[in-house]
Parts: sequence; structure tokens; C-alpha cells
Amino acid sequence: MNPFACQSVLTLLLTSTLAMSSAHLAFADDDDDEDDEHEHKRNSLFESRLAPVVNATYSEECGSCHMAYQPGLLPPRDWARIMAPDALINHYGDDASLSEALRAEISAFLGANAANVARSMVPGDASNTGAVSGGLPRITESADFKHEHDEIPARLVTGNPEVNSFSQCNACHQKAAEGNYDERWIDIPGHGPWRD
Ligand code: HEC
Ligand code: HEC
Repeated sequence: MNPFACQSVLTLLLTSTLAMSSAHLAFADDDDDEDDEHEHKRNSLFESRLAPVVNATYSEECGSCHMAYQPGLLPPRDWARIMAPDALINHYGDDASLSEALRAEISAFLGANAANVARSMVPGDASNTGAVSGGLPRITESADFKHEHDEIPARLVTGNPEVNSFSQCNACHQKAAEGNYDERWIDIPGHGPWRD
């Protein structure tokens, strides 16, 4: 039994009642349990709970400047673009280059655990390909991400020295490192919990 299952049903009931109008993709999937986990994974890429990162090399090498994003936040081809040797040298303006051994190990981990590309609104799909700066895909540029975050005013993000950028998931999502983006664990610095 998934320990979140009961909680999730409650969340679903609560969010459906309170926020019928702001239908967002993730909460429809909150009502998960182990039985439909496969289904769940196949149909939804941007969800409130993702498998945590379990690769020490990845956490160490890719979790120092920002959190180690869950592999499930991007489809395989986006991770492949990010992990290309040339791309790592100019990584969103930073140098994140790695030895070939580390690069290969992390690439394999990300590729194997990436989001399934079955759905059309996946990050990096036609809806946002090309809209990304420097040619590198972003989780934060995906249609699903924008849909979830479009009501948050810039002063709480780029104008907030404790956040700076949407890329800093864990600045607002207290359990982002565990892959838990559930709304109950949101605490925006200088603002507090999010109620919509
Ligand atoms: C030297 C610092 C540094 C390291 C190491 C680093 N990154 Fe980044 N990464 C950045 C910066 C800076 C950004 C852009 C953040 C922003 O726009 O606020 C970024 C952005 C990203 C994004 C896009 C986030 C978004 O906005 O959607 C992904 C994905 C990413 N990094 C993956 C990785 C991976 C994979 C590794 C390990 C190979 C890695 N990073 C290592 C500095 C780093
Ligand atoms: C400035 C604070 C902030 C940052 C940074 C941020 N988020 Fe969010 N996120 C929110 C808020 C607030 C909501 C709820 C929005 C709503 O319901 O209108 C949310 C919702 C979500 C949801 C849907 C949760 C649910 O229960 O349905 C997911 C998934 C999510 N964020 C993932 C991310 C990821 C991944 C990152 C980093 C790449 C990120 N967020 C960065 C504030 C933030």
C-alpha cells in the first residue's frame, strides 16, 4: 500500500472541491496507488510526485548548483541534449563539464529514468521546442510547468532573492528533493504556503 494513497485521495477531494475551475494536470493523477502506477507513469509526465533521485553520482555532480532534478521531469531526448559534451561546457551559461566516465554514467542513469514520451504535452515536445534559450531544453519552459506556475507573480520568483529563478524548485517546494511537489509542501520564501 502506497503510504501516500490515503493522503492523495483526500488531496484529490479537497482540490477538486476548492479548485474545480483551475483544473491542472497533476492533481487528476494524485489519486494513485501501486496498481495503476504503470498507467500513471505512462499518462502523466508532470506530476506532483516523482520517483526520487537514487544515483549518488548524479546527485553529487548535478546537485551542487541547483537540486538534482528528478529524471522524470524531462523526456530522454532532452536529457541527451543536456548531457552532450559540448552542451555541458556551456550549460545555461555555466561550465558543468564532466570526465567522459562520469558523463556516460549520468547519461545512462538519466536516459533510463527519464519521463516516458507517450504524451504530447511533454517538456521539449513540439509545444516548446525552440522556445528555449541557448538551445537547451528546460523543465521550466515546458507547457505543463507553465500551466502549473502561471499564477505566481514574478516578485515572488525572479524578484525574490531567496528564490531567484523557477529552476530552484526546492526554494518553494519543501520536499522537492524527495520528488514530492504536492501543494501542501509549498512554502514560498517571504510569502508562505500557496492557496489558490
Ligand atoms: C556549475 C553549476 C552547475 C552544475 C554543476 C550543473 N548545473 Fe544545471 N544549471 C546551472 C544553471 C546556472 C542553470 C540555469 C538556472 C537558471 O536559469 O536559474 C542550470 C539549469 C539546468 C537545467 C534546466 C532547469 C530549468 O530551468 O528547467 C537542467 C535540466 C540542468 N541544469 C541539469 C543539470 C545536469 C543534468 C547537471 C549535471 C550534469 C547539471 N545541471 C549541473 C548550473 C549548473
Ligand atoms: C516560486 C516558487 C516555486 C518554484 C521555484 C517552483 N514551484 Fe512548483 N509550484 C509552486 C506553486 C505555488 C504551485 C501551485 C500552483 C497552483 O496550484 O496554482 C506549484 C505547483 C507545482 C506542481 C504541481 C503540484 C500539484 O500538487 O499538483 C509541480 C509538479 C511543480 N510545481 C513542480 C516544480 C518543479 C519541478 C520546479 C523546479 C523546476 C518548481 N515546481 C519550481 C511554486 C514553485
